[in-house]
Amino acid sequence: MNEVTNLLMNHRSIRHFEDKPLSREQIETIVLSAQAASTSSFVQAYSIIGVTDKEKKAKLAEFAGNQSYVAENGHFFVFCADLHRHDIMGQMENKDVIPAIESTEKFMVSVIDAALAAQNAAVAAESLGLGICYIGGIRNDLEGVSELLKTPDRVIPLFGLAIGYPSKKNDQKPRLPLQHIYHENEYKQDEAVYREELEMYNKIISEYYDERTGGKRKDTWTGQIAGMLEKQTRMYMKDYVQKKKMDLR
Ligand SMILES: Cc1cc2nc3c(=O)[nH]c(=O)nc-3n(C[C@H](O)[C@H](O)[C@H](O)COP(=O)(O)O)c2cc1C
Repeated sequence: MNEVTNLLMNHRSIRHFEDKPLSREQIETIVLSAQAASTSSFVQAYSIIGVTDKEKKAKLAEFAGNQSYVAENGHFFVFCADLHRHDIMGQMENKDVIPAIESTEKFMVSVIDAALAAQNAAVAAESLGLGICYIGGIRNDLEGVSELLKTPDRVIPLFGLAIGYPSKKNDQKPRLPLQHIYHENEYKQDEAVYREELEMYNKIISEYYDERTGGKRKDTWTGQIAGMLEKQTRMYMKDYVQKKKMDLR
């Protein structure tokens, strides 16, 4: 264990922030850390939009299902998959890049790049003593988000990242057992073992909720997640992504 691994293993999402904006220096450190992440073939297929305008933040909070911490934080970032600049680059270099940038592969590259950059930003923020919460809720209404942030074709806002000075800290959420997540040399497919490990984890999660809610909630993890997956959500996504000229072939 060292300072970095301690920091990583001490993560928890923060959903209550002080009313105190991040300094320009903090914002730049966070963005430069994001940019330092590895990027597939040096393609740098993402953009980060910082939102400081109060009305825009309020609108984003509304899109995200009225999550108050989208509006109330130290700074709000939106991470986007971005192949727009690659379209321009093709024109600059007089090369037909369109079939490639409209492929599922390049769509995946841009999403992976954005996620890696975001996690670097999150860790950088936590290392500065700040708290973070990712906000996938903005995908409830990506048409609205695109219009609000004026994103062009080939740019998909993926999630927000609220950062700020924590005013309330949650307990850490226990993760799946390591042996359940980590396979060596081949994927373990013994379903009995799989179920046993999930049952073991269910006990840990039920106890976590029981303690945290004073006995009001005792959800299991499999119950909670299967319940969520039973409902189809944001089914407009494929059409939206394709309308934005990504993932077309
Ligand atoms: C891409 C992504 C989107 C998320 N969206 C939301 C969100 O909209 N609202 C929220 O409160 N938490 C959101 N979260 C946070 C998760 O709920 C949280 O990471 C998870 O429950 C584990 O808790 P922990 O981060 O405290 O360990 C999101 C996390 C990720 C990675």
